[in-house]
Amino acid sequence: MKIIVGITGGIAAYKSPMLVRLLRQAGHEVRCVATDHALEFVTRVTLETVSGNRLYSDLFAPSNDYSTEHIALKEWGDMLVVAPATANIIGKMASGLGDDALSTLLLSFSTKPILMAPAMNTQMWENLAVQRNIAYLRSVGVNFVEPAVGELACGTTGKGRMAEPEEIFEEIENVKLKIENRLSAEANSQSSILNPQFKRVLVTAGPTYERIDTVRFIGNFSSGKMGFALAEKLAAHGIEVELVAGPTALKCNHPLIHRHDIESAREMLAAATEVFPHCEAAILSAAVADYRPEHAADHKLKKQGDEGMTIHLVQNPDILATLSQMKQEGQRLIGFALETDNELENAQRKLERKHLDYIVLNSLRDKGAGFGVDTNRVTIIGRDGQKHTTPLLPKSEVAEEIIRHCLGN
Ligand code: PMT
Repeated sequence: MKIIVGITGGIAAYKSPMLVRLLRQAGHEVRCVATDHALEFVTRVTLETVSGNRLYSDLFAPSNDYSTEHIALKEWGDMLVVAPATANIIGKMASGLGDDALSTLLLSFSTKPILMAPAMNTQMWENLAVQRNIAYLRSVGVNFVEPAVGELACGTTGKGRMAEPEEIFEEIENVKLKIENRLSAEANSQSSILNPQFKRVLVTAGPTYERIDTVRFIGNFSSGKMGFALAEKLAAHGIEVELVAGPTALKCNHPLIHRHDIESAREMLAAATEVFPHCEAAILSAAVADYRPEHAADHKLKKQGDEGMTIHLVQNPDILATLSQMKQEGQRLIGFALETDNELENAQRKLERKHLDYIVLNSLRDKGAGFGVDTNRVTIIGRDGQKHTTPLLPKSEVAEEIIRHCLGN
């Protein structure tokens, strides 16, 4: 992508070169535009060196290639990121004012994505006029990375610190994905969404509990939200759902969802293998315990001595692998992969080893994604190696994307 980084006059401008570096390391082309005040905090030489391009700061500089360089830059850039964004530049943009290189560029950029990373003193941030300007800009589609709470240049502590360059970088990637997804949704909007062959789908959701004794178990942090979102969305598309759910407080009322509550991996296996032959597809989003205690005590175990306690674990059955062996022609099998490192590689390996049609990768490194939260960000990988990454979205929207991709026409 071609990204323009706008820099305004705040102490956080010293972090802008780090953002530029992150963007270039990720393969983006970068050009910088700075206000006069920004150049009190960060030098032209630094910005030109890290961006590898000439800095644009003077609307009427003799060195400008064109008299309307802001328009030429607007044509060049795919996204404009203002970091740091002072109350002044936010106010100018909200009021439609352009009196220097950056503000005129912002005016001309209104049909393209803009991301602002505000940085200012807490009182300025809380000022009603500033908040009104931000609310207005958000309402017309400008994206913001919220400032953080922390120590400020004025010596006080409060909200107003510019988000760290890594966080701004992540948000840029998110905005990029949102644009790509909107474009592909628009392109697909004329075609039918799901393949009519899918009339009944098995979904596994939530954790499994593996009993140690009558009061303790081995479990995990899965809430069931992702699986229940899949079930609800499938039902909303008129598809019958066999929902095999581990222990969760979640409820579902849709008449097309048939719920099978289970506790352990072995119970999940029994329920899933029973319904799978009657389904055209299965989506396994449950977080199944790979191991269980070999023996579950039929009473509450007493506290042991200082030497500690050993519980011998044995392997649980692999439900996904079992369904893969049962799979008949025409059935579609979709697994999840929860990874912490070498994510794509590991997910791809799982897809191949278990002969899946698709695998949905959840990286625990993605903030706001995975266990317990209401949002998720996944990469859907097809058997043909095609990948589709969603931005961070509510789980219901991620569910819709998974369904469209994996059960679409
Ligand atoms: O429930 P939430 O709080 O909303 O969180 C959602 C989630 C993070 C649990 C979900 O999005 C997710 O990533 N689910 C997969 C979790 C997992 O256990 O991944 P895994 O890489 O360990 O397992 C790979 C696949 O094999 C999964 O489809 C899993 O359901 C399946 N599996 C695993 C072990 C086993 N014994 N049997 C299985 O079928």
